[in-house]
Amino acid sequence: MIKKGIILAGGRGTRMSPLTKAVNKQLLPIYDKPLIFYPLSILMLANIKDILIIVNKGQLNQYKKILPNGNNLGIKITYLEQNKPRGLPDAFVIGEKFIGKENVAMILGDNFFYGQNLTTKLIENTRLNRGARVVLHKVSRPELFGVAKVNKNNKIISIKEKPKKYLSDLAITGLYFFDNKVVKYAKKLKPSKRGEVEIVDLLNFYRLEKQLSADLIGRGGAWLDTGSIEDFYKTSAFVSAIENRQGFKIACLEEIALNKKWVKKKQVQESIKFYGNCEYSNYLKKLIN
Ligand code: TTP
Repeated sequence: MIKKGIILAGGRGTRMSPLTKAVNKQLLPIYDKPLIFYPLSILMLANIKDILIIVNKGQLNQYKKILPNGNNLGIKITYLEQNKPRGLPDAFVIGEKFIGKENVAMILGDNFFYGQNLTTKLIENTRLNRGARVVLHKVSRPELFGVAKVNKNNKIISIKEKPKKYLSDLAITGLYFFDNKVVKYAKKLKPSKRGEVEIVDLLNFYRLEKQLSADLIGRGGAWLDTGSIEDFYKTSAFVSAIENRQGFKIACLEEIALNKKWVKKKQVQESIKFYGNCEYSNYLKKLIN
């Protein structure tokens, strides 16, 4: 069972400048809550309660204001800083102590997932004992993504970053499950031409050992990467449409914690006090009354 998870929530956010000059991308709003709530909700839905959030150097206080320690969510949040965006696999070097001898999940701070059966699939993935698993989603423009070719047993046979020649239309999303070897492999990586260590290189260690498998999100599920301003607004519109239609919130952290019985009503009342008089609090009030 994977019980630990990392949210990689640093990055330059170049594509979203000037919005990201003073504020980290993951703290900007997707409709009615900060972006960071969405990847955090995914780890919580996967029953992962021990969570490391990696942030940029100097931005710790911003995060602690909104997510102090997880007490009101029945989870444990630890923070570590990345002093420069050295690449995604750097998470496992920074997080070495946090990971210890265990297996670990990682989600990128700007990835959004939604869909039926998602929770069941997430929990299945936490059963990974050995190897690595990536979550894939079909896209119409694979040349813009890291993509993977999969055989009929869901083993990944090849991967390529932004392929010029067609390889597959399954994009590698920002959600991964790893066994403990990930720390050792991450430490072996050398920066690529663009000066970062690359997730594709990390995954290739597993692929060469035939230990890299895939979990496919079907067409009923949505994966949105919120890296550009355009994507940010599209994701906000998606959340707004669903929330207003159904009256349910996506990524309401307290609701997930309450449903999982990780918190009592009293802790939700604490959250309401913390957020103050707002629409999000009104939703929480409805949950406990
Ligand atoms: P990217 O989209 O690669 O980078 P970015 O968010 O800094 O944006 P831009 O390309 O516009 O400069 O990063 C994906 C996610 O991973 C994002 O949530 C930031 C995070 N990240 C880190 O925390 N540390 C890193 O070293 C890198 C490369 C990314």
